[in-house]
Amino acid sequence: MRIAIFSDIHSNTPALKACFREAERQKAELWLFLGDYVSDCAYPERTMELVYNAMREHDCRLIKGNREEYLLNHRKNGSDWQYGSTTGSLLYTYENLTDEDMLFFEKLPITDVVEVDGMDTIRICHGSPYKSREKVEARNGMAEKLLRRIEESVLLGGHSHKQFFEYFDGKLYVNPGSVGVPTSGTTQAEMAFLESDGCHWKPKLVHVPYAVEETVREIEEADLPKRTLVWASCVIQCLRTGKNYPIKCLDLAEKLAGGVPQNEHYVQAAKELGIIE
Ligand SMILES: [Fe+2]
Repeated sequence: MRIAIFSDIHSNTPALKACFREAERQKAELWLFLGDYVSDCAYPERTMELVYNAMREHDCRLIKGNREEYLLNHRKNGSDWQYGSTTGSLLYTYENLTDEDMLFFEKLPITDVVEVDGMDTIRICHGSPYKSREKVEARNGMAEKLLRRIEESVLLGGHSHKQFFEYFDGKLYVNPGSVGVPTSGTTQAEMAFLESDGCHWKPKLVHVPYAVEETVREIEEADLPKRTLVWASCVIQCLRTGKNYPIKCLDLAEKLAGGVPQNEHYVQAAKELGIIE
């Protein structure tokens, strides 16, 4: 038995299509989604259409990520998101999704347990089973801490956009990386598989080539570089290099501002990082 794992798609439909092809090629019988389906790249509605199709054609289990939580919170409580600022990316995503999409997100759990006959039980989450924004990275101690806390033998999580797996006391943590916006130096989509040996699960981390420039073209076509101040330009730079330019820009803007950055700090940071001219 083989399980396919997808996380952090971030509206990158060309990357998701390539990963779905890989899962089909490898004949994965169960497809797990760890959240952050949308935002950052263009046309979130195309991503959701692909996800809904996958649910019709395959045995799928899905949970929500922090980006879906942001959208649901905006819907419920409103926000100060606006075009021409970095929050324009989330506003664009929200405006291109429907009430049905929001209801779909609302119904997704933040964690779930997957049981396959006779096999080690699997818990899935976005950051951690307790907090969607928990950053679990290789050797930062978090994977071990979470594995000790849960009853299940296998924990799958995303959010950090860093692909890795670690074992502790016979328990396994796997982060499949990010389908849409990987930040560990690759320009290919990241996903993972779990393969059974009849009792235990063995992880396999995979890189899937896709047309990065098609995703860039979509972002430009949707006018996101203009509508999101510098955010979409940071995302484009990240897609082309595999380096976390959105966070680099955010950190530098905070440093320049000495606190909460304003638009001019983001622009200066993006210029200093060579993201915009
Ligand atoms: Fe994410």
